[in-house]
Amino acid sequence: MSGPVNDPVNDSQPAGPIGGNMVDNGRAYRHWKLQRDDDGIAWLHLDMADSSANLLSGDVIGELSDLLQALALDLPKAVVICSDKQNGFVFGADIREFTTLENSRQALAFIERGQALMDRVAALPCPTVSMINGACLGGGVELALACDYIVASDAASTKLGLPEIKLGIHPGYGGTERSIRRCGPLAAMDLMLTGRTLPSYTAKKIGLVDEVAPLRQLEHAARWYALNAPVPRRPGLFTRLLNNRLLRPLIANRMRKQVALKARPEHYPAPYRLIRLWQEHYGDSRRMLQQEARSVAELATTDTARNLVRVFLLSEELKSKGKQVEYAAKHVHVIGGGIMGGDIASWCAIQGYRVTVQDQDPARLAAMYRRAHESFGRKFKRDRRAIVAASDRLMPDLDGVGVARADIVIEAIFEDAEVKRKLYQAIEPRMKADAILATNTSSIRLEELAPCLQQPGRLVGLHFFNPVALMPLVEVIRGEQTDPMVMNKTLAFGRGIGKLPLPVKSSPGFLVNRILMPYLLEAVIMIGEGIAPEVIDRAATDFGMPMGPIELADSVGLDICWSVATILSQALNLPLPDNLKKLTDSNRLGKKSGEGFYRYKNGKAQKHAGLKYGDMQTVQDRLVLRLLHEATACLRDGIVESENMVDAGVIFGTGFAPFTGGAINYIRSVGADPLCDRMGEMQQRFGDRFDCDATWAKL
Ligand code: NAI
Repeated sequence: MSGPVNDPVNDSQPAGPIGGNMVDNGRAYRHWKLQRDDDGIAWLHLDMADSSANLLSGDVIGELSDLLQALALDLPKAVVICSDKQNGFVFGADIREFTTLENSRQALAFIERGQALMDRVAALPCPTVSMINGACLGGGVELALACDYIVASDAASTKLGLPEIKLGIHPGYGGTERSIRRCGPLAAMDLMLTGRTLPSYTAKKIGLVDEVAPLRQLEHAARWYALNAPVPRRPGLFTRLLNNRLLRPLIANRMRKQVALKARPEHYPAPYRLIRLWQEHYGDSRRMLQQEARSVAELATTDTARNLVRVFLLSEELKSKGKQVEYAAKHVHVIGGGIMGGDIASWCAIQGYRVTVQDQDPARLAAMYRRAHESFGRKFKRDRRAIVAASDRLMPDLDGVGVARADIVIEAIFEDAEVKRKLYQAIEPRMKADAILATNTSSIRLEELAPCLQQPGRLVGLHFFNPVALMPLVEVIRGEQTDPMVMNKTLAFGRGIGKLPLPVKSSPGFLVNRILMPYLLEAVIMIGEGIAPEVIDRAATDFGMPMGPIELADSVGLDICWSVATILSQALNLPLPDNLKKLTDSNRLGKKSGEGFYRYKNGKAQKHAGLKYGDMQTVQDRLVLRLLHEATACLRDGIVESENMVDAGVIFGTGFAPFTGGAINYIRSVGADPLCDRMGEMQQRFGDRFDCDATWAKL
């Protein structure tokens, strides 16, 4: 088959529908535009009204249904569905509509409506093509899958994915059956179970996309498929065999085992329901669609799905914090090329910023550049051009020339207030008048640093988490003297570098470390009582934490934990266990030194499997209650502006079990009274650190 992109005849045609003679069908739609061209192709353009992105809202679905009905009466030669938005095709269903569903009956009606639309697209008796440029997610992919062909641009922004699992459901508009039919069960289930997004070339490799074309030839490609209607590509015989009724149970079992490594069925039922759906119903399309709708309807009204939708909305709320002012920093200067400074610099370079990195030690700069190169490779894989471009944007700068050019200077040097003040005094006269000075300090109060500056209002905290590339949150710290405009610009910068910016009041430990520390210390106290680290970590992961507190402390570094704990213990009156001090004194600093609470081999903690402990519930309660207690204390002290912001901080900063919807949401759903009763029992057994203060009663 000769492809559309290198077809010489098509290459010489005028570009796409906009250049051809279009006839509007005369009827006004709010979100869609129908244009028929001279070749007899009907182009359906989606440009959702009053929205920056296209969503499959009820209105959008309703209009498309009407349009398809009109098309069926006056059948074109082919239909191409495309988007008029710059940022993408369709981002998925409208999640806010989702939150209005009160019961599974309403959810079923909601899903069946979407399914019916996709069926109508699939049933059109002419070739249908989806033309994708930019993001195509969830319902957007399901709409594309209902077409005969999918063509996608090769732009880096073009990404396809079925991320419904992250919202506690799975695809419900026919996407389960159609993706498996198109890509085979292994690739399709992997896409749906992980919820990851694929660039267009990878999407082509797994058979999801038929053709990838440069943007300037995308319309040619769509037109070629519409007019030539080649035999649709289907998976090979071996891949199809994997759908065999006898093989499905075996493969499904393996999938369940894989999923269980990351998600427990009682916390996250959706992946298990999806596997069962395929195992039991694949092969009978009608039945699979019915069961798909039923399954999503039931999942959509579970607490897990409601809470995961809450998590999604929290991330949107954080992003909106970065939209209060327009701020486009171009040049970032990082001082301190160590663990944090180096990773912050390479992250900013990946995000497209020009970055200079200054360090007093040339060897640290060399190591920083090597590490940055590795992270470019991890990020851009085999895209040499992107790797070279990111490397070009990152410049080691021993003499600190970049200070004078930077829009924002990020300081990540040793955690020593005096050293930091000296540095600020040396660089401030060279900074641009409106440049921001952001410190990554994890424990020094801004009020101790700002007075040394001529313009104290320009100092703000920008607290990243380790590892920078993986942690989505950045705390933006407002000191007493921080200029509100500087605060807003820094929030915008946080969003600009692809992080979720959380505004936090300057106070010891800010929000995340403060909430995390009592939980870590309780774990260390239990070690002192002779409970095995494996038991403590398992109690936490059983609750739904991504990693146990002991392994987390080892990964952060016990010296860092000790220094943050010391500062917080004074401010919050926390008892400090001596076993932590003993380890740091003997240079057992955790993973980085090869030994902490665990020993490490090739970077992996050596754990004893299957250790039993009589009272796991108490271990878990001790950990979780101390974390919840500190979260309520932060609310009481106004460290962040709302309950939502406390929950956003614990979820995106500590990984606190997302299916609970956050610490405060968890207290609300379990009930403050029973939790306080349990705190009372703990107080009697373990001391006053389990004292339930008055804030609980207000929840
Ligand atoms: P690090 O010790 O790895 O790096 C500090 C770097 O700063 C070193 O390369 C050092 O040569 C350089 N440096 C020191 N004084 C300097 C000066 N006057 N001029 C130029 N360079 C100078 O430390 P790390 O862990 O990267 O921490 C840096 C900052 O980030 C600290 O304020 C720390 O509290 C904070 N932080 C650390 C986290 C962690 O997990 N390590 C997490 C979040 C914040």
